[in-house]
Amino acid sequence: MPAKKTAIRVGVLTVSDRSFRGEREDGSGPVLVEIAQSHGWDVVETLIVPDEIDTLRDTLVMWADSGDMDLILTTGGTGFAPRDVTPEATRMIVDRLAPGLAEAMRYESLKITPHAMLSRSVAGIRGRVLIVNLPGSPKAARENLAVIQPVLGHAIQLLKEDKNAEAGH
Ligand code: MTE
Repeated sequence: MPAKKTAIRVGVLTVSDRSFRGEREDGSGPVLVEIAQSHGWDVVETLIVPDEIDTLRDTLVMWADSGDMDLILTTGGTGFAPRDVTPEATRMIVDRLAPGLAEAMRYESLKITPHAMLSRSVAGIRGRVLIVNLPGSPKAARENLAVIQPVLGHAIQLLKEDKNAEAGH
């Protein structure tokens, strides 16, 4: 019998002071939700948080340890502004880094804009959950997710020790 594919369970975390305060509409969160759903993923949580390292860290821990998600996509706060602390919060709570994902995103994004060099995004693993930082503009979030999307299914199979992971090698 063919193996049953389970949907990737995703949380989308928008990191933005202005969107949190309601001064700017959250553009990238809804874009990521739309893309996730177009791939048949199950979006289980969405939230907007300010660029506060403690809030970010606590939310990431709560989501990753909930058992409800396989993948957490953050959007925003990866640049050089003093309040851009998403990578720092992510580093604080992951057990293992997954540098290849961030390297690939920057490499491919550099073909689109030199500003790709300004994203300090990281990817890492906490328990069996993959956490990936995406930049904050809807365009950048979409472009970066498109780079890693082809490997996410296999990455999550490996994290969950899914017996079908072998087939992806
Ligand atoms: N990557 C892609 N593919 N496309 C983009 O337009 N914008 C860059 C970069 N990565 C961009 C991109 C810009 S302008 C910045 S400042 C950094 O991501 C960080 O964005 P953030 O601070 O919103 O996280």
